[in-house]
Amino acid sequence: MERPVPPLASALGAISEANPEDYREAVLRQVRALTEDNQRLFQSALRSEKRFRMLAKAVWKVQEDERRRLARELHDDIGQTLTALANQLQRISDDAQAQDNVGLKNRLADALDITRGALRDTRELSRLLRPTLLDDLGLEVALQWLVRTLSERSGLPMECSSALGEQRLTADLETLVFRVTQEALTNVIRHSAASEVQVRLMRVGNLLRLQVSDDGRGFDPADLNNPDKAGDSIGVRGMRDRAELFGGKLELKSAPGQGTRVTLIVPVEPGDELIAAPKAQG
Ligand SMILES: Nc1ncnc2c1ncn2[C@@H]1O[C@H](COP(=O)(O)OP(=O)(O)OP(=O)(O)O)[C@@H](O)[C@H]1O
Ligand SMILES: [Mg+2]
Repeated sequence: MERPVPPLASALGAISEANPEDYREAVLRQVRALTEDNQRLFQSALRSEKRFRMLAKAVWKVQEDERRRLARELHDDIGQTLTALANQLQRISDDAQAQDNVGLKNRLADALDITRGALRDTRELSRLLRPTLLDDLGLEVALQWLVRTLSERSGLPMECSSALGEQRLTADLETLVFRVTQEALTNVIRHSAASEVQVRLMRVGNLLRLQVSDDGRGFDPADLNNPDKAGDSIGVRGMRDRAELFGGKLELKSAPGQGTRVTLIVPVEPGDELIAAPKAQG
């Protein structure tokens, strides 16, 4: 327990008329006691913040692990069932063709299209939940895949450049950059009406810098602090909180009619750099 500091006025009141030396000593003692208490409080706040960060990171990790598990189940279980269904429909369709049953063959062709579409969607959803590419081949390849996929889906031209090469970083840091890019691009698609988007990833000394810029309608970032306008949106807040958990920061530059630029700057600590993974075969 903290030692309570006696109220200054009452402590001094008793000796206010007494010897001025005693008075000075009493004031100094009070100031020292207050300073010590402040230091203790400060240290305890630092410890609490560290514990909070560790806890928040652990919660986030559990969420990513769960996404990884769901992604694998979607891909392996539902994906394989749909593949088997498509193969079965193809065989029946071949039989209908052999028997000259054109009506049945056409209906089967439709069913086959629907099944293949569902298979494509399942695989894409599985990858968006947690791309195996990110674990297997790293951030640069995963970002290029994400940008290509979202660009094809939305019809919005997107350009991606990365100076990271094959350098691998810890899974947590790669996931942070991937998720921030994913949220920033989702915002561009949903809100910006942009005609062009650029994603840049670079390393400047020990800082990793990700920039997502669009030339769309922009907005006033002050709106994010206005509960009437921000409602229960959590995208930007989530990006910002995650960046801070890693000792980094998220900058948002935007204005109505001026496009939007989201910049993530995060330090690469000595333990964050892994040996470059060997190139995948085939
Ligand atoms: N690139 C952008 N261009 C234009 N407006 C944007 C852009 N990014 C964000 N905004 C504005 O900022 C608001 C907050 O974004 P945020 O990602 O926090 O929430 P959201 O996308 O509305 O919802 P969600 O919680 O699902 O992410 C958006 O509603 C939108 O008005
Ligand atoms: Mg959003």
